[in-house]
Amino acid sequence: MANVRASTPDAHLPASAAEGSGRAAIGVFSISDAVGAEVRGVDLREELDAATIEVIHRAWLDHGVILFRDQHLSAGDLVRFSRCFGELDLGPTMAWQAADQEFPEIFIISNVMENGHPIGFLGNQEADWHTDMSHTAIPPKASTLYALEVPADGSGHTGFMNMYKVYEVLPSPLRSRLEGLHMKHDPAHTLQGELRDGFTAESFEDLEAAEGPVHPLVRTHPESGRKALYLGRERNGVYRAARILGMARAESDRLLDELWCVVRQEQYAWYHTWRVGDYVMWDNRCVMHRRESFSADLRRVMHRTQIRDNVAPA
Ligand code: OGA
Ligand code: MN
Repeated sequence: MANVRASTPDAHLPASAAEGSGRAAIGVFSISDAVGAEVRGVDLREELDAATIEVIHRAWLDHGVILFRDQHLSAGDLVRFSRCFGELDLGPTMAWQAADQEFPEIFIISNVMENGHPIGFLGNQEADWHTDMSHTAIPPKASTLYALEVPADGSGHTGFMNMYKVYEVLPSPLRSRLEGLHMKHDPAHTLQGELRDGFTAESFEDLEAAEGPVHPLVRTHPESGRKALYLGRERNGVYRAARILGMARAESDRLLDELWCVVRQEQYAWYHTWRVGDYVMWDNRCVMHRRESFSADLRRVMHRTQIRDNVAPA
């Protein structure tokens, strides 16, 4: 079994080698009071043994977000490591991209333009608090991001929020009101408000009539058994991207406003400042994330994978 050290942010890696491996021991170090841990002592290019994968898996479940620094991953390494935790989704391809990419599992998240086209998604704008793919029936359990290029001025932070804690801090009368409630999520628009393929402008005007996946507002994490608030997304406070079933629209909006107000206090959030070679993996079932905007003149290139879950939120 790999040697897991106590978590303090400024602790140093153990100097001794892990039992039998001859390599530095893996260490897990909490990064903030809210969420997140740094995992040190692993080179993700290597073939990792089952005990090491288990330590990483445990750290991810316990901390919601894990960070590995100073990695040197090829696209193949990224796909291979991500696959240790489950099957991967295929990334969306842009119409102008070659369909025969070597690693179709990789999503490019970037503002960089080549030949007049963006090479990836999300541009340089803010991406407001969200969980990935809440507009699908079975959203991925994890998303992972590997930083290839980051803005030279250190901007373009990614925030992560612990939704177990957000749920637990709600006043208990509010928590009781959420019991058994379900929401229909808007499948028609992206976070940036663009229409997804196959949807028309009208397709989600009426949140009641439109088809969309229904998820509980409070979900029980299938591995930890803990409850987390599951909001999906709201588009920068402008547009309601979900509606609570069995409630009049105004009542649903009021309740969602109350919950988003707690989210926007960012009491349980931590922001990551990226360096090239950082690799971050988050638990999409109990963590929301947000990306700050950055200057359009700076380059940011991330490779992302998405690890499938095998159960719908419940
Ligand atoms: C994502 C995402 C944030 C970022 O890839 O799902 O929200 O920091 N990215 O690029
Ligand atoms: Mn996202």
